[in-house]
Amino acid sequence: MKNKRKYFNNGLPLLMLIGIILLGSCSKKEDAFANRKVSFNSDWSFHLNDSIQDKDTIGTSTKWRTLNVPHDWSIEGNFDEKSLAGYGGGALNGGLGWYKKTFKVAAADSSKVTSIIFDGVYKDSEVWINGHYLGKRPNGYIGFQYDMSPYLNYGDKNNEIIVKVDNSKQPNSRWYSGSGIFRNVWIETTDKLHVAQWGTYVTTPKVTAEKASVSFETTIQNQNTASKKATVTTTIFKEDTKVTSVTQNITIGANANQTIKQETQVETPILWSVEKPELYSAVTEISVDDKIVDQYKTNFGIRDFKFDLDKGFILNGKQVKIKGVCLHHDLGPLGAAINTRAIERQLEIMKEMGVNGIRTSHNPPAPELLDLCDKMGFIVMDEAFDMWKQTKTKYDYGNDWDKWHKKDLIDQLLRDRNHPSIFVWSIGNEIPEQWNENGVAIAKELAAITRQYDKTRPLTAAMNPPVNMNIDAVTLQFEKKNVSINPLAASGVLDLIGYNYAHQTYEHHQKNFPNTPFIATETTSGLQTRGYYDAVSDTIKKWPVSWDKKFTGGNPGNTVSAYDQVQTPWGSTHEATWKVIKKHDFLSGMYIWTGFDYIGEPTPYEWPSISSYFGIVDLAGFPKDVYYMYQSEWTDKTVLHIFPHWNWKAGQTVDVWAYYNKADEVELFLNGKSVGVRSKKGDDLHVMWRIPFQPGALKAISRKNGKTVLETEIKTAGNPENLKLTADRSNIKADGNDLSFVTVDILDAKGTLAPNANNEINFSLKGNGRIVGVCSGDPVSHESYKGSKHTALNGKCLVIVQSDTKTGRLELTAKANGLKPATIVITAE
Ligand code: GAL
Repeated sequence: MKNKRKYFNNGLPLLMLIGIILLGSCSKKEDAFANRKVSFNSDWSFHLNDSIQDKDTIGTSTKWRTLNVPHDWSIEGNFDEKSLAGYGGGALNGGLGWYKKTFKVAAADSSKVTSIIFDGVYKDSEVWINGHYLGKRPNGYIGFQYDMSPYLNYGDKNNEIIVKVDNSKQPNSRWYSGSGIFRNVWIETTDKLHVAQWGTYVTTPKVTAEKASVSFETTIQNQNTASKKATVTTTIFKEDTKVTSVTQNITIGANANQTIKQETQVETPILWSVEKPELYSAVTEISVDDKIVDQYKTNFGIRDFKFDLDKGFILNGKQVKIKGVCLHHDLGPLGAAINTRAIERQLEIMKEMGVNGIRTSHNPPAPELLDLCDKMGFIVMDEAFDMWKQTKTKYDYGNDWDKWHKKDLIDQLLRDRNHPSIFVWSIGNEIPEQWNENGVAIAKELAAITRQYDKTRPLTAAMNPPVNMNIDAVTLQFEKKNVSINPLAASGVLDLIGYNYAHQTYEHHQKNFPNTPFIATETTSGLQTRGYYDAVSDTIKKWPVSWDKKFTGGNPGNTVSAYDQVQTPWGSTHEATWKVIKKHDFLSGMYIWTGFDYIGEPTPYEWPSISSYFGIVDLAGFPKDVYYMYQSEWTDKTVLHIFPHWNWKAGQTVDVWAYYNKADEVELFLNGKSVGVRSKKGDDLHVMWRIPFQPGALKAISRKNGKTVLETEIKTAGNPENLKLTADRSNIKADGNDLSFVTVDILDAKGTLAPNANNEINFSLKGNGRIVGVCSGDPVSHESYKGSKHTALNGKCLVIVQSDTKTGRLELTAKANGLKPATIVITAE
């Protein structure tokens, strides 16, 4: 067992795993676990062709190109004002795409079960193996698998898999969906007696500091034509160390599934928390005649939590405010094709800001996101749907609701329920049916399904505010106003009252819903362009008036000032909502719309805008200023952040804001002369000076009890002269997946960021790798994210470099007219 464990932990080196597939053979060593699931991402052929609908015709086509999945073909296209996907879909086209791949399966595997696993294909995928139809899956966000065994050729003969992906009916999404096999693909090979798909369920019914009871429900599938006697052993590990194990003998009928229950205890458990996300693993081994025939690993965490009516969210006995953000699934310039490092980077940037929660709006995320949240410590709200039967866009999932919702929800629950990072299930976002009794009936059905598969987490729905938002003062308690209360909120179906926006009502929650705790499922929807400022900031602007009204009163080029002053009419400034959530213990927390900008759903909802302005961080991953407000409130870091930049017209009145913490005052100096000391009063979250601009240096000093805490300075930049490249990591893995995110700063001769520079930058790369994305975070840019040149936004740009499978030096050069070029070396090893 010891050796096995070691092997198990490290797994096969990825390259070897890929190699097994590339060589066209699934022949393997005798380790049941290590080869159970191997990557099937490389060397697919792809053909985008809207006119070929039928697989036999596509089979004769010669216009295939080779690529690796995850792949998103929409991101490769041009922004198109007339795109049927609309501005909501990021003005990028869908279409009909075909994928195929040829592979061999070892003769020895003919006695086994070989399945193909898709983690997500957007959308309406259909799959054939060697001409046999395996099935269809409309939902683009859920994983699914097909048993290919009966139709495979074993030994030297080739197999061909064909996948049709139909994202041609548009619009079908309110945001950019991406198109294609946009998540990982795997081949799973098991004995005919094996743990079923998503076949384990690990719970920790009782957790104390001394002891945790751990319960396993394991579904074993027997695909043999004879019944089998077997032993099922589940062993808990903490890293490499065996903690405890439990064994049971079973007899399982031919072609049958059997679910067994096992229980054990972990003494002095090391609890999973946001700060220390400690994981255990459970290894299920099925043995027949003392030979292990299947091994299956499930990561889990031991933690105890509840949502309390008065104290909000309690984790391991401690109150934890949920400081969450909503994220869509796209990865900015990489589109919707998932990449683990890119997701990890997003989460790292969020963690730096102090975020401890992620809402997977509005659909099941890539499994890798949940794995990362488990490891990094986030409180996840895992959401199932953006609509039920009633559609929001003409061709969306509402059309598939009747036939598929039950299976999709069950599969999400089975897939995700072992993740310790998940604390809340959301059965939907702003579902139109919430307003009628039919919606309550649907919610009851979804709640019953959810509770059947997981009773350990509360259930909510991200409702619209349970009051009539047209009433001027939504601040008032429901009982005192003649307001319509949302039937779903009133129905008692939900364990947690969750609604989006209307922060003015939160304080009255306990009066309005005395028996149900609260979570702000979605908040804020502030709007900002990174690095762009209206110099005089202090009037709150609601922009635009509503989705359907054309926006006329904004800034040239659809820019939005990055002071925290512009909001949607249904949302708030960042400060306004946080102030309320912060104030009351019974408000368990919030998920801000959104952590990152995402493609599509621009506000204003009009050309030339093609990506959202909601993010606290822009599409490239560069923080907007309000990031530091949260950092000053949500982290232990000492923060002093002043903005805007210091390049204005002589004499122009400019508002300077500072976010700070751990200090009782900030003094600002312009060219060495004090322009005043400011202190936050009451629940203030920033201070401000209104001063006439004078070129030079603006310096801020924060002080506590008269002693300097921090100093920071911004200077007037001269003409742009230099490019500076900074890689987030200059050593990456030579695995064909890893990424280095390189920031380009445009600087003046003295090294000051040129805050208005918008030079076009050309990139070139030498070595075994490729440029896979370029982006400035500009919501109105129509340059391709997939090109090798891009125009900077306010002095900054991002270029993403991906390794090849060969080790070596990658030399990235950036050039722009009139600026000195820059080069950086990244090592792939
Ligand atoms: C919410 C919705 C989100 C997004 C957001 C924009 O109402 O749930 O998906 O559209 O508005 O402010």
